[in-house]
Amino acid sequence: MTTSHPLFLLFVLHSAVLVAAQSYRASKNTTSPWQTLHGNAPLVIAKGGFSGIFPDSSIDAYESTLLLLSNVILWCDVQLTKDGAGICFPYLNLDNSSDITFYIPNDSKNNRIYYVNGQPMQGHFSVDFTLNDLKNFFLVQGIFSRSNVFDHILGILTVEDVAKQLKKPGLWLNVQYDAFFKQHNLSMRSFVLSVSRRVNVSYISSPEVAFLKSITTQFKRSTTKLVFRFLRADDIEPTTNQTYGSILKNLTFVKTFASAILIPKNYIWPVRTDLYLQPHTSVVLNAHGEGLEVFASDFANDGLISYNYSYDPVKEYLSFIDNGKFSVDGILSDFPVTASEAIDCFAHVSTNSSGKVPLIISYNGASGIYPGSTDIAYMQAFDDGADVIDCAVQMTQDGVPICLGSINLMDNTNVIQTNFLSRLTTIQQIQPNPGIFTFNLTWDEIKTLKPSIANPFIGSYLYRNPAYKYTGNIFSLEDFLAFAKGKPLSVLISIENATYLAKSLGLSITDAVIDALNHSGYNQTKQKVMIQSSNSSVLIKFKEKTNYQLVYKVDEDIRDADDSSIMDIKQFAHSVAITKNSVFPTNKLFLTGATNIVSKLHSSNLTVYVHVFHNEYLSQAWDFWSDPNFEINNFVMGARIDGIITDFPGTANAYRNNRCLKMGNRKPRYMNPVLPNGLLSLGNPALLPSVEAPNPVLTESDVAEPPLPSVTKNTSTSGSGTFASPPTSPKSSGQTESTTYLLSSLGILLTSLLLF
Ligand SMILES: *[C@@H]1O[C@H](CO)[C@@H](O)[C@H](O)[C@H]1NC(C)=O
Ligand SMILES: *[C@@H]1O[C@H](CO)[C@@H](O)[C@H](O)[C@H]1NC(C)=O
Ligand SMILES: *[C@@H]1O[C@H](CO)[C@@H](O)[C@H](O)[C@H]1NC(C)=O
Ligand SMILES: *[C@@H]1O[C@H](CO)[C@@H](O)[C@H](O)[C@H]1NC(C)=O
Ligand SMILES: *[C@@H]1O[C@H](CO)[C@@H](O)[C@H](O)[C@H]1NC(C)=O
Ligand SMILES: *[C@@H]1O[C@H](CO)[C@@H](O)[C@H](O)[C@H]1NC(C)=O
Ligand SMILES: *[C@@H]1O[C@H](CO)[C@@H](O)[C@H](O)[C@H]1NC(C)=O
Ligand SMILES: *[C@@H]1O[C@H](CO)[C@@H](O)[C@H](O)[C@H]1NC(C)=O
Ligand SMILES: *[C@@H]1O[C@H](CO)[C@@H](O)[C@H](O)[C@H]1NC(C)=O
Ligand SMILES: *[C@@H]1O[C@H](CO)[C@@H](O)[C@H](O)[C@H]1NC(C)=O
Ligand SMILES: *[C@@H]1O[C@H](CO)[C@@H](O)[C@H](O)[C@H]1NC(C)=O
Ligand SMILES: *[C@@H]1O[C@H](CO)[C@@H](O)[C@H](O)[C@H]1NC(C)=O
Repeated sequence: MTTSHPLFLLFVLHSAVLVAAQSYRASKNTTSPWQTLHGNAPLVIAKGGFSGIFPDSSIDAYESTLLLLSNVILWCDVQLTKDGAGICFPYLNLDNSSDITFYIPNDSKNNRIYYVNGQPMQGHFSVDFTLNDLKNFFLVQGIFSRSNVFDHILGILTVEDVAKQLKKPGLWLNVQYDAFFKQHNLSMRSFVLSVSRRVNVSYISSPEVAFLKSITTQFKRSTTKLVFRFLRADDIEPTTNQTYGSILKNLTFVKTFASAILIPKNYIWPVRTDLYLQPHTSVVLNAHGEGLEVFASDFANDGLISYNYSYDPVKEYLSFIDNGKFSVDGILSDFPVTASEAIDCFAHVSTNSSGKVPLIISYNGASGIYPGSTDIAYMQAFDDGADVIDCAVQMTQDGVPICLGSINLMDNTNVIQTNFLSRLTTIQQIQPNPGIFTFNLTWDEIKTLKPSIANPFIGSYLYRNPAYKYTGNIFSLEDFLAFAKGKPLSVLISIENATYLAKSLGLSITDAVIDALNHSGYNQTKQKVMIQSSNSSVLIKFKEKTNYQLVYKVDEDIRDADDSSIMDIKQFAHSVAITKNSVFPTNKLFLTGATNIVSKLHSSNLTVYVHVFHNEYLSQAWDFWSDPNFEINNFVMGARIDGIITDFPGTANAYRNNRCLKMGNRKPRYMNPVLPNGLLSLGNPALLPSVEAPNPVLTESDVAEPPLPSVTKNTSTSGSGTFASPPTSPKSSGQTESTTYLLSSLGILLTSLLLF
């Protein structure tokens, strides 16, 4: 790990920008793998900069884009002020993305209703303010699901302010409204002509035909490309009175005033209202046939994404740039790093490559795609490249060990819609709420249930593959072992609730697992078996009786493990599985630091796995840019973990085969781990989340458990009341200690720039 001084790093990166500028070219390349119009790699266009994280069109949004990406176009939505200045602002109406309504009374004369393309729009408009007036207002996050922590500190920028950031051509001006400004006696045409004399403008786009026609002659001999922007197919283009859908039918006409088109992504891959993807259209091929470049818009890691992409934004980009038939020429995104990552690292790479780090352990199979612990979920995990498939063992009433993510059948089957609803029971030792537990149904009864898909983010309306909600078959442990037998797979068997099952029900889950493994021949093959438990007594028992690999699971978020607890763990385990927050603690989804727990466990020869990785953007810290691949990258390249436990093994496998991992020092900057706490350090001090108590330290008393009760077939009438909870002690607290300094990118760089 490098420990360069931030300023040195800054120097190196600036030099890299200059080198990239010299090699910039746009010539035709016929030996290229890219099926773009000219064979060049697709362009990345950053919509208002890195607007997925920072307020759209703010200096931090633009600067972070340029610091992270060496080949990117900055997009600016041009609006004009009363005095004819051009500002970059994402909407015509200033209310959406600035704090103007914070400062101006809502009944002021500048809260107006204007007709825009025939429709009334209310709010505060740039045409009523001078550039100087606008200095009083600041940008805010316009999309409410994103963090507001950067609000009220970054001012509105002019087009020149943004152009000044650029060291090479790479500015894209979007003129969304020309007719409106004309009505207000302001000329977009004069503005773009005059600004393009002062700064290099690479692209000018507009959804208004008349505007582009009015500037074609002026830009004919320049390097500026004119781009016709399509809005929704049934929207009416205001200057021809035709719908965009009908204009699309005559691309020869578009070619008379533009050299490229910008279309919503669903023009290319239509998405049904149920969010499943339909076959692609021929629009890219048609436009290429006409000699028009094609740019696709509306990409965001946190947007509505088709189920077919399994919440992996890289997968979505690949379907536009690497599908074997065509590639778009550029991508307009709120998360330009993810678009670049798809182009630089993931396109034209086989997922059957030889990447081996990190180890990929499934979580109830590929439970992000199919109902967990079912035949199809395990098959998918295998096909998707998992190294280890897992079975969370539960016991049935008739003593059959089965695989299921929860002891409560209500969590992952349709049991509540069946007659077995009558088996509803409250068992305080397991959970405070009533449940229908696996040990209250026989295996034959459980087989009649329909498995349902887990939906951990249902509160935010992010559903998983609903078409497969009630599909697949639950595996018994023996079915599971038979499935994995002979395949290039290891198995991980996870055992919880052993004490309750032994004490209250007289069921020995450990014996059941050992028997099943013996019976399936795993005691005499080289195929690797891992046993995981959060109960040290379970692992101690396996250590006495078997030679399997033992994984100690820590369920709580911890910030450290003291020496005696590690010495203890060494006695019965080879590996430790800890939570994501134990490595990178977060507060309101911002990283607050990095622990050194991984290197500490490594120095005791314990391998470290981390649970549980999901693809949904709500599960990643903002610092990982709402991208599951960057999250994995930071855990692997930054914290050096050995394996990940994930419900989307396919994403982890694509990650470990990505080309950029083999580039060494030539890898793109954004593939370096981020500085923990980097993003939060740029926030508005008044809006930072309040400081939380640090996570506790794991101590010896947390690890020690009473031995498992020996099982004598239960004859008592009651299965409850005698359960003694293991001793717990309050965990000590104190200052978070972070000794892992990571090679920075965004954090240090922006921080150092702001300090100048
Ligand atoms: C053409 O593209 C390929 C692949 O991107 C690249 O290796 C090669 O250097 C390019 N050649 C020219 C002349 O740009
Ligand atoms: C404000 O933003 C929302 C969400 O992006 C959008 O639907 C709405 O049209 C915008 N309003 C204006 C006046 O631009
Ligand atoms: C103006 O109205 C908006 C939306 O109704 C509200 O959020 C804002 O606080 C109001 N501003 C003032 C100064 O009253
Ligand atoms: C635009 O200019 C015309 C002619 O000078 C004038 O009549 C009209 O009121 C102006 N419109 C606006 C919105 O200022
Ligand atoms: C525009 O770009 C060209 C080529 O990179 C450069 O030579 C020229 O100086 C730039 N012009 C301005 C006004 O920045
Ligand atoms: C478009 O339609 C409007 C009203 O329907 C009409 O006033 C206008 O002249 C039409 N414009 C064109 C270019 O046909
Ligand atoms: C398409 O546009 C071209 C160029 O403007 C025009 O000559 C042709 O008639 C149009 N075709 C149709 C079917 O409208
Ligand atoms: C998307 O997924 C659905 C359901 O699995 C499938 O029917 C459809 O063919 C997929 N679409 C594409 C374009 O692959
Ligand atoms: C479920 O099993 C527990 C333990 O054997 C038992 O106490 C309880 O009565 C059972 N509940 C039902 C509804 O069968
Ligand atoms: C059963 O296992 C779950 C998952 O580890 C745990 O939350 C619960 O406390 C356990 N119950 C008992 C009685 O051990
Ligand atoms: C594995 O278990 C089976 C069934 O209990 C037994 O017959 C066999 O001897 C065991 N093999 C080894 C190597 O322990
Ligand atoms: C870890 O393992 C290596 C080699 O396997 C050994 O040399 C070293 O002493 C071990 N360290 C500890 C702390 O167990």
